Amino acid sequence: MDFKASLQPDRNLAMELVRATEAAAIRSTPFIGKGDKMAADGAAVDAMRAFLATVEFDGTIVIGEGEKDNAPMLFNGEKVGTGRGPACDIAVDPIDGTSLTAAGRQNAVSVIAVSDRGTMLDASSVYYMNKLVAGPEGVGVVDIRKPIAENIRAIAKAKGKTIDEVIVAVLDRPRHAGLIEEIRATGAGTRLLLDGDVAGGIHAARYGSRIDLCVGIGGSPEGVVTTCAVKGLGGIVQGILHPTSEQERARGEAAGLKFDHVYEMDELVASENTFFVATGVTDGGLLEGVRRKGPIVKTHSIVIRARSGTIREVFAEHQADRWY
Ligand code: FBP
Repeated sequence: MDFKASLQPDRNLAMELVRATEAAAIRSTPFIGKGDKMAADGAAVDAMRAFLATVEFDGTIVIGEGEKDNAPMLFNGEKVGTGRGPACDIAVDPIDGTSLTAAGRQNAVSVIAVSDRGTMLDASSVYYMNKLVAGPEGVGVVDIRKPIAENIRAIAKAKGKTIDEVIVAVLDRPRHAGLIEEIRATGAGTRLLLDGDVAGGIHAARYGSRIDLCVGIGGSPEGVVTTCAVKGLGGIVQGILHPTSEQERARGEAAGLKFDHVYEMDELVASENTFFVATGVTDGGLLEGVRRKGPIVKTHSIVIRARSGTIREVFAEHQADRWY
């Protein structure tokens, strides 16, 4: 087959997928700040599912909204797409930051990540993962096994910054009180995230960003999703599973997961052919949120294709009367 032709479906896939995150973000906006995160998520799920059904690929959801019985749609194992075209694993997070959306807070995004079939780690049996994310300057420089102070000094040196110029993103949770203290004791600053460590991780990995590292315990699926993006951005993601009970650990072991083990990027996603697309739901450092003005709805998305290393920002205008 002609080389260029063999790349074609992949190339189209990147831009097709962004229509699904745009749809999810647009449909969730009537629920921003209305205090009902289930309703916001439900609207995003319905819209994403409808659009994914039309995408020319043979997708299997590896990271979805949960098991079939609890999640009627976009459940783990569900087939999506037309069934023609590339065979892919897919991770969906119709809204990363459902509570942010319900509260009307910043940084909620709609996300899809894709890789070749059979390459995404299914870590769904263990909810939390301790993660470290940095951009290209962090590769071979920072390591999750090292104390945070050492990593901060190393990333400062690699980026030619003074330590007090370094900013570390961390989810604002009581479990991170010690970590936050350690970061501040070095002289570095924190960017405390109310929610949404996918956006936080990508922000840290993006070249030229104000955030230098994203660390701490967040969702395991979010670690896999972030890896699909960072494969295109050229940075580093490491993760250590963090079970919160013996039962969860046993479930993870039964699923073949490893504990006290550093998952490197190639174990999180064993493919260099990854795609990541996200559309802003509410405004944030990474993406602008959905904006409705008169008859127009504006969206802002990022599309990352690892194979080409291309990062595209997509600003789109949609006709409001088609959506609401
Ligand atoms: P949801 O939108 O699914 O609620 O996830 C938001 C989030 O902040 C993730 O970005 C993060 O990985 C995870 O929740 C952290 O979990 P917790 O809120 O239990 O600390």
